[in-house]
Amino acid sequence: MVDVAGRPAEAAPAPLRTDAPVAIEVRDLGVQYSLRFTKKTTLNRSFINMFRREPADAFWALRDVTFQVVHGESLAVIGPNGAGKSTLLQVLAGIITPSEGIVDVDGRISSLLTLGAGFDQDLSGRDNIRLAGAFMGLDPATMRRITPTIVEFADIGPFIDAPIKTYSSGMRARLGFAIATAVDPDILLLDEVLATGDETFRAKSKQRVLELVRGAKGVVLVTHDMNWVTEFCKRGILLEQGRIIAEGNPYDVVAIHREHSEQSKAERQAALDRAMKDGAVGSLPPDAARSRLRS
Ligand SMILES: Nc1ncnc2c1ncn2[C@@H]1O[C@H](COP(=O)(O)OP(=O)(O)OP(=O)(O)O)[C@@H](O)[C@H]1O
Ligand SMILES: [Mg+2]
Repeated sequence: MVDVAGRPAEAAPAPLRTDAPVAIEVRDLGVQYSLRFTKKTTLNRSFINMFRREPADAFWALRDVTFQVVHGESLAVIGPNGAGKSTLLQVLAGIITPSEGIVDVDGRISSLLTLGAGFDQDLSGRDNIRLAGAFMGLDPATMRRITPTIVEFADIGPFIDAPIKTYSSGMRARLGFAIATAVDPDILLLDEVLATGDETFRAKSKQRVLELVRGAKGVVLVTHDMNWVTEFCKRGILLEQGRIIAEGNPYDVVAIHREHSEQSKAERQAALDRAMKDGAVGSLPPDAARSRLRS
């Protein structure tokens, strides 16, 4: 038997033990965002909005999302831009409170979502390591033990004692990655952090992530790199417009995602061709017309 990606089925990740304890439980999750403050609202419209049950200009970034991650499982969440992947990870990390549904995460979470977002710009890298340790609730002895490892992993030379505001974005991300992965978490949440830093750092961070994945109770990985999905994840979820469209073997889910991406590309091209034929974008050079259609 050959699976959808054309690889032998035995190369696909082993099926999970269904009796394994649950690490993450998500049931009927919904996250609603309001766009009210990003749009100009007229007085008349504000008045109408006051009497609506559902806020106008609100939309569901996630809806009816239900899944489980059992111990030892790594779950990939894939989907097009704006599908709700980062929103889902922020909910799991406790950064966003869901509008509806239940989210239960068992254990210490380490989330690599926005690396270095919490840095104090005026403090040095070394002081920011101390600060992060305090936020994570680590005792001084643990901090003394892990600080040299963090400094060595970030590998930013004497800049470790300079204020963060003097760092390049890559250096900031390296230090953020080194801090976030210094302690073995129970639950690991990763959002597109595998593309951090230069090539050498990427290879090093890939190794570190693999170590963490092996030791963690559960991993949820958001990525646009389909190799990671099929290579390291036992299961995949395809999100589109905030809803789960497909779930299961990563090879199958990736194949559906690719098929849907091709379809939407073809639909966009057809719309562009129609618009050009109707003269709506005919006066623009082809590239400009394309970008106008996308925006
Ligand atoms: N703070 C916010 N306020 C309003 N809308 C938001 C907010 N954050 C995200 N959104 C919207 O929610 C939807 C889901 O966004 P999200 O960042 O989760 O997508 P994503 O799947 O991670 O996309 P990408 O692949 O581009 O990272 C998008 O339509 C986005 O515009
Ligand atoms: Mg995202």
